[in-house]
Amino acid sequence: MIFRQLFEPISSTFTYILACEETGQAILVDPVLPAWQRDLEVLQALELQLAITLDTHVHADHITAASRLRRETGSTIAHPAVDALTCVDRPVREDEPLLLGSVRLDPLYTPGHTDGHHAYLLGERVLTGDALLIDGCGRTDFQGGDAATLYHSIHDKLFVLPGETLVYPAHDYEGRRVSSIAQEKQRNPRLGGGKPMQVFVDIMDDMDLPYPKFIDYALPGNRACGVCPDDIPEHLHEYCERASNSRQG
Ligand SMILES: [Fe+2]
Repeated sequence: MIFRQLFEPISSTFTYILACEETGQAILVDPVLPAWQRDLEVLQALELQLAITLDTHVHADHITAASRLRRETGSTIAHPAVDALTCVDRPVREDEPLLLGSVRLDPLYTPGHTDGHHAYLLGERVLTGDALLIDGCGRTDFQGGDAATLYHSIHDKLFVLPGETLVYPAHDYEGRRVSSIAQEKQRNPRLGGGKPMQVFVDIMDDMDLPYPKFIDYALPGNRACGVCPDDIPEHLHEYCERASNSRQG
């Protein structure tokens, strides 16, 4: 399998390329709208064709490039079935592996950051989305989030994986790229070292995070698989396509 980790700096999002070497078919996980051309350029340089875009959840901090990429390449939009988005071509569910040539991806239902969140297991790697981050986790105060639910998702679906499984998160804000299940179990400051659930819930309750600045635009945009709402204020325009991009194609 071909595996690449790409970084989008506006929302500090990692997009992942997973591809079959024999067929040249590729999956993009969590592509970000302003970076859609970059993603296609990387695929082209690797001589890969985009077959599927797949999101881990309905994002609040950026807009998915799924629709734009479908329009440009004819790719199929895959997304957790539980979110019931009408724009999705291929609903994904736990216990139903996504297969593309030699690539096998096993969805793991991991609610708690959002109520529909899925992580994706790829053999010795796991794409943890916003459920488990390096030394952290996604917030649990919006989108049906719940700290106790997230604790159980991480313990029951992720911490049961072999310790050497590599953890590839959907974000990092401090320049880190990869961790492992063993490392997070041992030293994640919110969940590691065998912290009981109530300690985690108290940590999450006490975080006092600011209101997410893009959420009011990102949620309707992402429930439509990546439409930039018309009313986005000037200072948030960088989260959508640049004007030069929207005139192309
Ligand atoms: Fe998120």
